[in-house]
Amino acid sequence: MALLTVNSVQREVEADSTTPLLWVLRDHLGLMGTRFGCGVGLCGCCTVHINGEAVRSCVTTLADAEGSQITTIEGLGTSERPHPVQAAWLEVDVAQCGYCQSGQIMQAAALLATNPQPTDADIDGAMSGNLCRCGTYQRIRDAIHRATELQR
Ligand code: FES
Ligand code: FES
Repeated sequence: MALLTVNSVQREVEADSTTPLLWVLRDHLGLMGTRFGCGVGLCGCCTVHINGEAVRSCVTTLADAEGSQITTIEGLGTSERPHPVQAAWLEVDVAQCGYCQSGQIMQAAALLATNPQPTDADIDGAMSGNLCRCGTYQRIRDAIHRATELQR
């Protein structure tokens, strides 16, 4: 059994220590906001935070995550009090199909936590590993700039 802290709640998980965190979140804990894309760390769909850092949960094992603070899209904000990135995403109407968007938002939130005023180049660098088949990249960039204003 492994102990995880997910969205500030301690959870017990019965799974092999090599199970990817993505499947622990989705299948064991019912947190379906974190998405499966490539499964090999190349698309960013499955991005969550571990101790505040953006990581790919498809290539992070349960053993790697044990004892850490994990945040998923469900724990980033609430409907009443959205994270500035979530509020900006809604204002800019970023999503198209939506599939990649939880990963995009988690990556953007981790960027703003360490760089509250990113340039376009900073944004492109930080977000380059998060792919969007709908091509929402310009709106993602606009929303990150808007989030910098909302978080002041
Ligand atoms: S599903 Fe994890 S990076 Fe693509
Ligand atoms: S909004 Fe469709 S894949 Fe990104």
